[in-house]
Amino acid sequence: MEVIIVPDPAAGGELIADAMADLLRRKPDALLGVATGSTPLPVYEALAAKVRTRDADASRARICQLDEYVGLPCGHPESYRSVVLREVVEPLGLDEEAFMGPDGAAEDVAAACLAYDRALAEAGGVDLQLLGIGTDGHIGFNEPCSSLASRTRIKTLTEQTRRDNARFFDDLDEVPHHVITQGIGTILDARHLVLLATGEAKADAVAQAVEGPLCALVPASALQLHPHATVVVDEAAASRL
Ligand code: GLP
Repeated sequence: MEVIIVPDPAAGGELIADAMADLLRRKPDALLGVATGSTPLPVYEALAAKVRTRDADASRARICQLDEYVGLPCGHPESYRSVVLREVVEPLGLDEEAFMGPDGAAEDVAAACLAYDRALAEAGGVDLQLLGIGTDGHIGFNEPCSSLASRTRIKTLTEQTRRDNARFFDDLDEVPHHVITQGIGTILDARHLVLLATGEAKADAVAQAVEGPLCALVPASALQLHPHATVVVDEAAASRL
């Protein structure tokens, strides 16, 4: 695992956008796995800026989603599908055909999970998966105690994660209890994992993921198993390393 400490979130965004631009030079139709939350926004802003200045060509890029809330009505502004379309797909000038994600509004959620896991493999696998980290060490929505071999499936959110994510909703009661998430095994199938963490609130989770034991209690520690994992942290998130 490579750990890179950057001075601030903008520098982390620039560094990861550079890695994505390089990948797209080598493989123009690369499948980029993206994460939601506040942390990766500087990456998407930096990559979109590179596309505008023609320092990156994302015209054939494909984008896939890491996780999704279950039960939000189709088109809800905080469904991760809406967020990824708004924050990533549209700013890169891509249309919806370039995007794939799990169907959180499916009647048969278990079948939707299986279908998404299969679709990722049939698309040739994820070339670069960007990850954030929850304050409890989760990746995607794989909460503590998730199997390190898990595949895409339905999960129940912890109260801590619901509270952390309540800022995107009007009220805590509106935050769904259930989600679909790529499993840890699914995430580990990506060719390159890049985790970005910024801010003091992530310092403990980062220290446990990077320097703690490999352990289902800290799902992000699964990156220790991956042959090509990069952890990019600002100085605040690196403060307990
Ligand atoms: C959610 C997402 C994760 C993300 C996490 C942290 O739980 N499912 O993929 O990493 O939030 O979000 P933030 O970057 O806003 O702290």
